[in-house]
Amino acid sequence: MALPMTASAATPVLVGGVCGRFAARHEVNPRLVRVAAVALAVSSAGLAGVLYLALWLMTPAVTAHAASEAVAPLPSSARSLYGPVARDLPLVDEMLKSIAQVDNDWLRRMLEHAVSGGGKRMRPAIALLAGRLGDYDLDRLVPLAASVELLHTATLVHDDVIDAAPERRGQPTAAALFNNASSVMLGDLMFAHAAEFVARTGNIRVIRNFAATLGVMAQGELKQDMAAYEYSEDVQRYLDRIYGKTASLFATAAENGAIVSGAPEAYVEPMRRYGEALGMAFQVVDDILDFTGTAAEMGKPVGSDLLAGTLTLPAILYMQRSPDDNPIQKAFEGTRRRANLQRAIEEIRTSDVLDESMASARHFASLATAALEEIPPGEPRDSMSALVEYVLERRT
Ligand code: IPE
Ligand code: IPE
Ligand code: MG
Ligand code: MG
Repeated sequence: MALPMTASAATPVLVGGVCGRFAARHEVNPRLVRVAAVALAVSSAGLAGVLYLALWLMTPAVTAHAASEAVAPLPSSARSLYGPVARDLPLVDEMLKSIAQVDNDWLRRMLEHAVSGGGKRMRPAIALLAGRLGDYDLDRLVPLAASVELLHTATLVHDDVIDAAPERRGQPTAAALFNNASSVMLGDLMFAHAAEFVARTGNIRVIRNFAATLGVMAQGELKQDMAAYEYSEDVQRYLDRIYGKTASLFATAAENGAIVSGAPEAYVEPMRRYGEALGMAFQVVDDILDFTGTAAEMGKPVGSDLLAGTLTLPAILYMQRSPDDNPIQKAFEGTRRRANLQRAIEEIRTSDVLDESMASARHFASLATAALEEIPPGEPRDSMSALVEYVLERRT
């Protein structure tokens, strides 16, 4: 894993953390422990100790620089898709950034890093598009859209800890810049803000949906973790897991957008079905791109699902095709792990299981399109329909 901080800059942070833990364990003032550590360093290493102290003091500035540059613009291909709501997405961004207005320097830098990293903003765009089916009141729809995006981004912060991922959205992850413990708590803090944003809608049905989705998503990630290195994983369990970790949030974004705007009840359920099917297609494509995409386009590592023990649709189909001579099973059992997984990845890339997986994504995309038939024609529907195509064609 390529750490973005240099070893010399990382060392003082590491020692700072050690001092903090020592202070907590022995219930003494952390400042005293730090001063004692520095005094010890200076007396034992002279000039090196002074240099060491200087590096320690410089470290926050280094990290702040990285965070303030972490503003990836929305890809223009995606932006043009959001049609009638594209101009309102900056309001969502503004609300997201408001969570970083805290006094504590470190916390501010972490929160800025988390909410200024770009991303496609698909989920808030879907919430706003569904909001166009009723009374398009931005006072309630912007907090809803911000809650959805924040919930998504918080799960990414946690996902990057779980996967030990060095990059996300073309930037170093929180897990790489800070540390795992801080990143987990950062994600928790973001969940808390997301809950506060959704409460601003004042709609109990929407708040209940949000809470239920958070539970389903956590279960999806847990199921994935429990299924790691489980080579008997099957397609049905895979679909269940990606519904939980990804499609449930797309479904809630679309459904809650319709509810918050007071759209006719007859549109609410089709919106949920649209979001769910789109989310399923989205994750299947993401899992294909893990085999075929590039890190430069995706802004995150690729080729890593199998190496992390995660069996996605292409790998499951591949295993079903070759039950007798199966490099994935051998690797998961501990036989020549790297070599067997490399062989599996190469064979998956050149076999037709990727086409078959794409057919599954297209199946879900067609369900999303069918759901759109149940809402009135118009600009929002056209945009939602274009999003279905985008999900199938995306490389980012
Ligand atoms: C990434 O989602 C996580 C998955 C569900 C695969 P996105 O690809 O929508 O991430 P951003 O928000 O654009 O970075
Ligand atoms: C989506 O799955 C993760 C969440 C919904 C949190 P992935 O693990 O495939 O996401 P990426 O590929 O890291 O973005
Ligand atoms: Mg991941
Ligand atoms: Mg992925």
